[in-house]
Amino acid sequence: MTKVVWKPGTMVYPLPAVMVSCGAVPREYNIITISWTGTICTDPAMCYISVRPTRHSYPIIKRNGEYVINLSTKSLAYAADWCGVKSGNKFNKFNEMGLTPVPASKVNAPMIGESPVNIECVVKEIIELGSHHMFISEVVAVNADEKYIDQASGLFKLNDAVPICYSHGKYYETGKFIGKFGFSVEKKKK
Ligand SMILES: Cc1cc2nc3c(=O)[nH]c(=O)nc-3n(C[C@H](O)[C@H](O)[C@H](O)COP(=O)(O)O)c2cc1C
Repeated sequence: MTKVVWKPGTMVYPLPAVMVSCGAVPREYNIITISWTGTICTDPAMCYISVRPTRHSYPIIKRNGEYVINLSTKSLAYAADWCGVKSGNKFNKFNEMGLTPVPASKVNAPMIGESPVNIECVVKEIIELGSHHMFISEVVAVNADEKYIDQASGLFKLNDAVPICYSHGKYYETGKFIGKFGFSVEKKKK
């Protein structure tokens, strides 16, 4: 195998393209699309988002110390992209995209009603890395759309909502099932 060596860069893909909603009062409500995000601890449940200080959302999140990570789906892909190229200093993104701000259960920031999962986060630490500042946050509540909870089994069928991912400049829908967690070591059924 022959490899080409590139200079350091961002190459961990695919990633989510979540919509982070913020704002303590309706006039400052905003949505920023974020791919530099992920889970960093199971117990306590913790996530991070990395945000450029130049973003309109940055001082809102920093000041309030609370925000919501809203998962994006195929039907929300257009809005996720739009909220990632337009700034809240010019647009009310909830109105422009026809999204519904819904009060969160624990944090003072709106959730996006149309998203199947809304993760309420409280900022614990901000690490100024360079171009982006990392908001290390504790998850204080997770809201799941009951439409995707299977009545019979009680299981949450997130994949039925068709989550999207962002890979090297392009969006893709998820869907083709390859195997479940641990399938590589599962005993074959006789
Ligand atoms: C798919 C995608 C992922 C993005 N990820 C990030 C990110 O992780 N951090 C960031 O600061 N900006 C990211 N952006 C850019 C912001 O979403 C964009 O600059 C947005 O317009 C900022 O909105 P605001 O000015 O209203 O806060 C991303 C944009 C897209 C389209």
